[in-house]
Amino acid sequence: MAILDLIENPEIMPQGYKALSQTQMVERVWQIKESFGDKLFLPAHHYQKDEVIQFADAIGDSLQLAQIAAKNTQADYIVFCGVHFMAETADMLTKANQSVILPDMRAGCTMADMANLTQLENAWQSLESQLGQTILPLTYVNSTAEIKAFVGRHGGATVTSSNAKRILSWALEQQQRVLFLPDQHLGRNSAFDLGVALDEMAIFSPEHNQLLGSPDVSKLKIILWQGHCSVHEKFTVQNIQQIRQSSPKTKIIVHPECSHEVVTAADFAGSTKYIIDVLNEAEPNSQWAVGTEMNLVNRLISQHPDKQICSLNPNMCPCLTMNRIDLPHLLFALESLVNKAPIGVIKVDEPTTTDAIKALERMLTI
Ligand code: 13P
Ligand code: SF4
Repeated sequence: MAILDLIENPEIMPQGYKALSQTQMVERVWQIKESFGDKLFLPAHHYQKDEVIQFADAIGDSLQLAQIAAKNTQADYIVFCGVHFMAETADMLTKANQSVILPDMRAGCTMADMANLTQLENAWQSLESQLGQTILPLTYVNSTAEIKAFVGRHGGATVTSSNAKRILSWALEQQQRVLFLPDQHLGRNSAFDLGVALDEMAIFSPEHNQLLGSPDVSKLKIILWQGHCSVHEKFTVQNIQQIRQSSPKTKIIVHPECSHEVVTAADFAGSTKYIIDVLNEAEPNSQWAVGTEMNLVNRLISQHPDKQICSLNPNMCPCLTMNRIDLPHLLFALESLVNKAPIGVIKVDEPTTTDAIKALERMLTI
């Protein structure tokens, strides 16, 4: 038993749920879903486990889920199967009378945790004192509501992996320089594709509150926050070389949260939705190595028995925080709605929402 489970906290799932059989839990989830009808909406990110995905009313990447949340007006409860920053975004984009529930509060994102507001305020001060008012901030949606609010207050926008190039190109028309956070890889890969040279980019270390490597600031166009995804950084150029050697016909497709070296060495790179679309359209018998989260790769393998699909890294494991949302936690959250004592309610405060919405709406309209 985990030590946290011993603490009497109504937000923590009682041990009894783990004693239920899979069949009991599945039946009960369907019953509860049916009883709520369209008053309950269950969106799920592509990286969720199959045991959760089977109940999803909508499955999507980060951009699709933000758009879907913004459109849903009939549900009283949105049970968000994804990670904390996605549930925050859904809360900010839905009406005040709608409650967004995250079935396990421990479902965070290590990348989003790599940028906090104090670090960003310090960074902004330090960068403006060095470069003047020449910078526009952009944040990947994989960031806290507070970071989105800062970006919104400073005229910037959010981005997802599906629209990063379009938003970045808009930002470079508005300002001389862009501060891109928290994922240095998505920032570098997107800027490079737009024709920005690597020596026009520099990394900013939040830990040391300074640009790294004494760059020539007169050339500087993109400032990359030193953050990354702990899942996607596990794909390496060596993985690619091994596949090229052992199976030369295999095409390699990766997510742009992978390093620039990996993206450059791969055949294709794009968001979760892009990867799914490419594999849906691929020829029967074609061979693919996929560099993204393991729950999605395993689902693609079972959905395409006519194609040979494998993970680019044979030792890969799923995103641990996405995996926090499992069947027992989903059932626990749904039972809490039945009992009219919802657990895992995600509520972003008004001032933060007002500013963060500016950044989100710029993204949704650009
Ligand atoms: P997308 O859904 O935008 O492809 O992002 C992947 C991801 O890492 C979400 O946490
Ligand atoms: Fe965060 Fe990476 Fe997991 Fe996505 S895959 S939730 S970016 S840690």
